[in-house]
Amino acid sequence: MAVSIKSEREIEFMRQAGKLLAKVHEELGKIIKPGISTWEINKTGEELIRSCDCIPNFLNYHGYPASVCVSVNEEVVHGIPAKDRILKEGDIVSLDAGLIYKGYHSDAARTHFVGTVDPRIQKLVEETKNSFFAGIKMAKPGNHLYDISNAIDAYISQFGYGIVRDLVGHGIGTNLHEDPQIPNFKQKRRGLKLQPGMTLAIEPMINLGRADVKWLSDDWTVVAEDGLPSAHYENTILITEGEPEILTIL
Ligand code: MF3
Ligand code: CO
Repeated sequence: MAVSIKSEREIEFMRQAGKLLAKVHEELGKIIKPGISTWEINKTGEELIRSCDCIPNFLNYHGYPASVCVSVNEEVVHGIPAKDRILKEGDIVSLDAGLIYKGYHSDAARTHFVGTVDPRIQKLVEETKNSFFAGIKMAKPGNHLYDISNAIDAYISQFGYGIVRDLVGHGIGTNLHEDPQIPNFKQKRRGLKLQPGMTLAIEPMINLGRADVKWLSDDWTVVAEDGLPSAHYENTILITEGEPEILTIL
């Protein structure tokens, strides 16, 4: 397993790629409201990415047909935007987007509320985000990769939510997906030692009900098998000598 360590010059490009993506997410958050189609969200996302001279890295990735994955309610990830999929009051919607800046990738996801959302589902979304922060606390030299996984699991376990096991976080750099894989659930081993210069996409996917997922017949959309809502929160981060740096926030 080759995990790339980025040079100071590469880290600067990763920082730029991250900041630009954070801005894209901020802008996308503003257009989420009842009545908008998931296709419109993708279109706006692609325009925002291209307008900063970046390339949408999801578009055509293994044949994925859009630039932003838009996943509604029980859809966990990789929902395909469609003109006839209209958001309505009470929905939650996960937007997963990424871009390439000067050859360097960033990847981040946010789950938004559409209008007023059931408090139980609000809590799912908030705790999913909190679990990312529980995980990244462990992202320091001296710790091991699975300290991150175990911290996310320990945080989420108190709520009885289902942690999705079929999809994981990943290394990122000159490729969207690099080694290592980063599970969001408890591991028996410690995994590799974390080192400054590693860039990782940490992305808990958490179900209100059971952890089991299935793929729809489009071969992309991952949904919670029990049909209950699911939330996703992801940032690209950098391991430093000290505290980790979150690259995809403003
Ligand atoms: N953020 C997603 C992930 O890491 C990337 C989706 S790839 C796409 O799994 F092809 F679905 F766009
Ligand atoms: Co990712």
